Amino acid sequence: MALIQETDYGTPIRITDKIVTLIIDGEAVSVPAGTSVMAAAMMRGTQIPKLCATDSLEAFGSCRLCLVEIEGRRGTPASCTTPVEEGMVVNTQTERLADLRRGVMELYISDHPLDCLTCSANGNCELQDMAGAVGLREVRYGYGGANHLDAPKDTSNPYFTFEDSKCIVCSRCVRACEEVQGTFALTIQGRGFDSRVSPGGMDFFGSECVSCGACVQACPTATLNEKSIIALGQPEHSVITTCAYCGVGCSFKAEMKGNTVVRMVPYKGGKANEGHSCVKGRFAWGYATHKDRITKPMIRKKITDPWQEVSWKEAVDYAAGEFKRIQAQYGRDAVGGITSSRCTNEETFLVQKLVRAGFGNNNVDTCARVCHSPTGYGLKTTLGTSAGTQDFASVDDADVIVVIGANPTDGHPVFASRMKRRLRQGARLIVVDPRRIDLVKSPHIQADYHLPLKPGTNVGMINAIAHVIVTEGLVNEDYVRERCDLGDFESWARFIADERHSPEAVEDLTGVPAADVRNAARLYATGGNAAIYYGLGVTEHSQGSTMVMGMANLAMATGNIGKPGAGVNPLRGQNNVQGSCDMGSFPHEFSGYRHVSDDATRQMFEAFWGVPLQGDPGLRIPNMLDEAMAGAFKGLYIQGEDIAQSDPDTQHVTAGLAAMECIVIQDIFLNETAKYAHVFLPGSSFLEKDGTFTNAERRINRVRKVMPPLGGLADWEVTMALSNALGFAMHYKHPSEIMDEIARLTPSFAGVSYDKLDHLGSIQWPCNDAAPNGTPMMHVDRFVRGKGKFMITEFVPTEERTGPRFPLILTTGRILSQYNVGAQTRRTENSRWHEEDVLEIHPFDAENRGVLDGDLVSLESRSGEIALRAQISERMQPGVVYTTFHHAKTGANVITTDYSDWATNCPEYKVTAVQVRRTNRPSDWQARFFEEDFALKRIGPDVDAAE
Ligand code: SF4
Ligand code: SF4
Ligand code: SF4
Ligand code: FES
Repeated sequence: MALIQETDYGTPIRITDKIVTLIIDGEAVSVPAGTSVMAAAMMRGTQIPKLCATDSLEAFGSCRLCLVEIEGRRGTPASCTTPVEEGMVVNTQTERLADLRRGVMELYISDHPLDCLTCSANGNCELQDMAGAVGLREVRYGYGGANHLDAPKDTSNPYFTFEDSKCIVCSRCVRACEEVQGTFALTIQGRGFDSRVSPGGMDFFGSECVSCGACVQACPTATLNEKSIIALGQPEHSVITTCAYCGVGCSFKAEMKGNTVVRMVPYKGGKANEGHSCVKGRFAWGYATHKDRITKPMIRKKITDPWQEVSWKEAVDYAAGEFKRIQAQYGRDAVGGITSSRCTNEETFLVQKLVRAGFGNNNVDTCARVCHSPTGYGLKTTLGTSAGTQDFASVDDADVIVVIGANPTDGHPVFASRMKRRLRQGARLIVVDPRRIDLVKSPHIQADYHLPLKPGTNVGMINAIAHVIVTEGLVNEDYVRERCDLGDFESWARFIADERHSPEAVEDLTGVPAADVRNAARLYATGGNAAIYYGLGVTEHSQGSTMVMGMANLAMATGNIGKPGAGVNPLRGQNNVQGSCDMGSFPHEFSGYRHVSDDATRQMFEAFWGVPLQGDPGLRIPNMLDEAMAGAFKGLYIQGEDIAQSDPDTQHVTAGLAAMECIVIQDIFLNETAKYAHVFLPGSSFLEKDGTFTNAERRINRVRKVMPPLGGLADWEVTMALSNALGFAMHYKHPSEIMDEIARLTPSFAGVSYDKLDHLGSIQWPCNDAAPNGTPMMHVDRFVRGKGKFMITEFVPTEERTGPRFPLILTTGRILSQYNVGAQTRRTENSRWHEEDVLEIHPFDAENRGVLDGDLVSLESRSGEIALRAQISERMQPGVVYTTFHHAKTGANVITTDYSDWATNCPEYKVTAVQVRRTNRPSDWQARFFEEDFALKRIGPDVDAAE
């Protein structure tokens, strides 16, 4: 295996049907119009020397190394800034050019520390390469004059250094931060010889920098360099794989030395990220080899016993024996399983197969229950399929972007960068969110409308927007007539036109001025292609499914589905939340969203799996916990999930877990749920296994093994062993065989195979005979369900109410540097940006309570109480407080309630009535947490060693 080197064309590749032919060094070359001479030369295999150009950035023309001669033109133009023209005759290699280029290089080298042999970039440095390419043999100027060789080094960023003495001021980093990332953290300060790169006059750690790594990627020298490269040296080989954090699904080259990852480099060929990354995927992979990894199977009879390390066989046999005992004693339905949105499609498919075929019931659920289950329900009901409608590239064609209940710059950073680029190009922006998220105002971006609604009033807001569209004659009638069910539309239009839905009528409810709602609605309906992007601020409500349908209604009414730049687009939280749903993780559905009661589908699975299957839906996670409390549910197999931390109303969850007799956890760390477990099966990180993840745009990406599983078995092998021990045989030799089975049993995956994925890079489902290479955009000529179905979306207030005892509303979210329950990111340097969860509170509410910034405050709801530090913030509106849930010790879910979406049971994380008071001690729950944390995670002496 070798290092994968991607071609750098020097300037961006243009895509157009217009082709221009020119002559380069005597040979005809045909390229798209708008291509630079530099890129055209590279397309025929001629690399013109360059330093300030790279194909992720627009040409800048500052280094003057890429000079060429063009017949009929005077001078020597820069090839990076010169577009091709029909019939142009270009010479890239002449003596005059060679002299000029050597002269330029001589100047650069005369102000460069020539420590190449000990430089961390030795062998991977464009300056070094260019010195060789232009044939530089001597530097006449010496080091006597003014230079920058003593410039200080900035090592403040946890992941990369800035060694100013090596900087050639090509400004690639500055432009990467602007054009690719959109953060504008870097500038060139000073003029002429004094020009230096600066992160705003401070060090990197204290600056606006979000550590996306784009500047490091762009830097042609060792000036910006990964600390891992400095520590470990240059990599030897690389493997293309997929980030295991969020639902953007970025592709990376895992660059390795033996079995050690040296760095993760975003892959330009990755269709979800096109060479960009965020701090998590790019740098926060060290958790995979963290000392906390549990790599030996463990069992214990009681949760108060210390863990005992045992062999894989002993652990698997013990788990299978317990599940069989429980089923014999309490009945077939007393056990179940939870699949993970962090694991691969293949692993998820196996877990649900084990439950349906091995346990013989449908008690399988997934963590998507607590995030995007309303997306599945709402989009399937209205449009016919449980997935987003567009690919990410579609945003490049959007004229109006509506962001509802999502915070893309923190939650989906790489897509946010793409969205911000489109906004800088002039797309209009509407943000619907209780909190003033970064997108509302960031460098060169200002939302046209921010509608800061009160949490819990989403449906009132979407109805008000729809009311304006219907009553002001803004419906796209041709589209509706042609594409939608007219009867349903007319009922909906009558419903929505009612005055009680007008922006004025709901102004008190939502807290948003009616005029703003009217103007935003007009902009959405008339501003051109309009795209809705939404997140958990939509779904995690008692009316999550209603809100998803409300957004689909809006998009259908305005003709904004089935074309580029439009659509209803869920921003999926976890890396494989789409995939875990696709794979049949819900208790009522087989893979491909087919109901278990559908006889034909069930019979097909029965025939293939060779066992009878149940036709009634099984238990959802909350029902499993309820049944456990009632004494009827006793055993649970959980792969890659930490429901004790991630699910709402922690005390109810832990009481349910504590009531069970056998909990089997398969994970990479001893998580919070493991406190209640009897068997621990070591999981494998994404670096240790083969498989696929499906991202938010339905894109199936390959996950490739770059190192052996630390525990000896990949997750799919563990599930297989457990199934075999239960008596339901599974015999896969490689995850590709599992994908072949998925393809055979799932129409939307019918054309998917590892061979095709390797060939195409990635595939967006549906992929079948009708769409052999996949489907970037859904519902193009007709909706998947036939006619689009408008649904009545009556606003029903949540039962969670504020009052004198709990006057504030708590809403929750995430932060860029941490991820979900923090199990991975807390074990990386990312914690330096977010060491603890804090409570954001508006100055008015803080002052009323005598709370100062940084004070410890008690946060109490009807469910419980926790303590955390206050951060006074004008991002909040008065009456609303906000926190994250990345740290187990915070216990944010101790105070969330068990109210949930009426259709899917997705918890209402976003609305909890609370009170905030100053305090000087942790809550009782937190005090107990620290005691139990120690006691319940105790690992006893190694049994084998003791013997
Ligand atoms: S790491 Fe990203 S945000 Fe930070 S300076 Fe570099 S490009 Fe800008
Ligand atoms: S830090 Fe690197 S990319 Fe930035 S100006 Fe200096 S050499 Fe160029
Ligand atoms: S945007 Fe998401 S998928 Fe991409 S690198 Fe960041 S966490 Fe990973
Ligand atoms: S690469 Fe063209 S001017 Fe620098």
